[in-house]
Amino acid sequence: MVKTINYKKILLFIVIITTIFIFVSFTGGFALLKLIKTSKPLITYQENTTGYDFSVDWFSHNLKSWNKYKAFFEDNENSQCLEIGALEGRSTLYTVQNYCNSKNSKTYVIDTWEWPISYYTPQEQKDLFAIFSYNLRDYIKNKKVIPLRGESRKMLPQLAYEVSQNKLQKFDFVYICGSHLAKDYMFDMALSWEMLKVDGIMAVAGYGWDKFKENPELTPKPAIDGFLVSYKGDYEILHKGFEVHLKKIR
Ligand SMILES: C[S@@+](CC[C@H](N)C(=O)[O-])C[C@H]1O[C@@H](n2cnc3c(N)ncnc32)[C@H](O)[C@@H]1O
Repeated sequence: MVKTINYKKILLFIVIITTIFIFVSFTGGFALLKLIKTSKPLITYQENTTGYDFSVDWFSHNLKSWNKYKAFFEDNENSQCLEIGALEGRSTLYTVQNYCNSKNSKTYVIDTWEWPISYYTPQEQKDLFAIFSYNLRDYIKNKKVIPLRGESRKMLPQLAYEVSQNKLQKFDFVYICGSHLAKDYMFDMALSWEMLKVDGIMAVAGYGWDKFKENPELTPKPAIDGFLVSYKGDYEILHKGFEVHLKKIR
């Protein structure tokens, strides 16, 4: 008996196999694309927080933009940094490891370390200075980090005086992330700018922080906008997003 070939069955089989193949390739490719898109950038910093005591993170969202400036500090054997508002020391740790890590570098850190409980999450007041001191213990011990405890309106004029007497160098990098009130930001930005070297970078936090929409004076934005208008021509904008980063050009 001659066996007849069932072409219809073969065709159906090919159609099913092809459909499965297309489906798997499409969904697999889509899943891969999603994975690529959502995968974190290859930054080792902050991934491993063993040995540190961090409970909040106001900083890691900056890594992408801050990493771009590393090269700027690489050849500087003497870079000097100033930070206003350090909390548990996340931004300080980054600064001291990436911008002010040369032999003669120092990072001056101004903070009250008494941030109001309403801002600080989890809603539990901690000994912030003890946490900062623990996280930066090696750098404080080696005098690479100098904590200056007090309000910026009191501490900054003292630093400015030291700079005017040539007892302190001007700064290559300033980070402003202290009191988020517009009036304090105005003061912090204006005084820090005077102490920033030409070609230095000033990073200002909280430009996009709109927690108090009805009371913008409680946020940094009006002060930053005022600064940008007032100092037009003196800076180049490196970044304008949630933070604003400026390079001093004169
Ligand atoms: C948003 S947190 C800083 C976050 C920090 N840069 C980080 O990487 O986690 C603001 C800090 O500013 C400090 N601060 C608030 N008002 C201040 C003032 N008038 N002078 C100095 N520091 C102040 C607070 O104690 C708090 O530690």
